[in-house]
Amino acid sequence: MADEVLERYPRLHALVNNAGVGFGPPGGAREVSADGIELRFAVNHLASYLLARRLAERLVACAPARIVQVASVGQLALDRADPFTERHYNGVTAYRRSKLAQVMASFDLAADLVGTGVSVNAVHPATLMDTAMVRAAGQPPTSTVEEGADAVWRLLTDPALDGVSGHYFDGTKDAQPDPQADDPAARAWLRQLSDSLVAR
Ligand SMILES: NC(=O)c1ccc[n+]([C@@H]2O[C@H](COP(=O)([O-])OP(=O)(O)OC[C@H]3O[C@@H](n4cnc5c(N)ncnc54)[C@H](OP(=O)(O)O)[C@@H]3O)[C@@H](O)[C@H]2O)c1
Repeated sequence: MADEVLERYPRLHALVNNAGVGFGPPGGAREVSADGIELRFAVNHLASYLLARRLAERLVACAPARIVQVASVGQLALDRADPFTERHYNGVTAYRRSKLAQVMASFDLAADLVGTGVSVNAVHPATLMDTAMVRAAGQPPTSTVEEGADAVWRLLTDPALDGVSGHYFDGTKDAQPDPQADDPAARAWLRQLSDSLVAR
């Protein structure tokens, strides 16, 4: 996908990493990607990690540009002894770990891109929007897709956010993620793990 985007779009000003896998059905079995990596970690974190890093050079060349990571307020600290949730698996745990990984990676990328004119921010769009992943988890919706879309669109387009990078937003509010996101050692560990997985 990165190859195709680079081939088709010589100018690139925005990347929104929105694709994601939700909790799955209650009691659902552990799933893995085609590469054998726990599915929520692979799709929610690793795919967005790799895509953003592969497209960063083009975004920098076209700066100003913005990267938005659609994460979630549902975050859980990653377990270094069990990064792929092999023990006591459930889809909610795997989802929450993958979403925090996304926030941690966006803080790292924001730091790498300081001074380039490319911002990187993570956002919880809205809580329990009426989408396929929420319906699959059997949860009643409490907000609309429009609310979530507005939060993402604001991060992409609001001139007041020029130069704002390395933040996590809950909707439109600047917010604090799980404390693990601010732990440099945890972020370095995740980065090394992610690099080793994408290098395979
Ligand atoms: N819904 C909420 O309340 C809520 C709350 C917080 C955060 N979020 C986040 O918002 C984002 C969008 O979720 P949503 O609620 O709109 O869920 P959704 O309706 O289930 O949409 C998920 C999207 O991700 C795509 N996708 C899933 N696996 C993929 C894969 N392996 N490769 C490529 N695309 C894949 C799906 O494509 P297909 O349609 O082709 O399967 C679909 O377009 C996610 O990152 C989610 O974690 C949602």
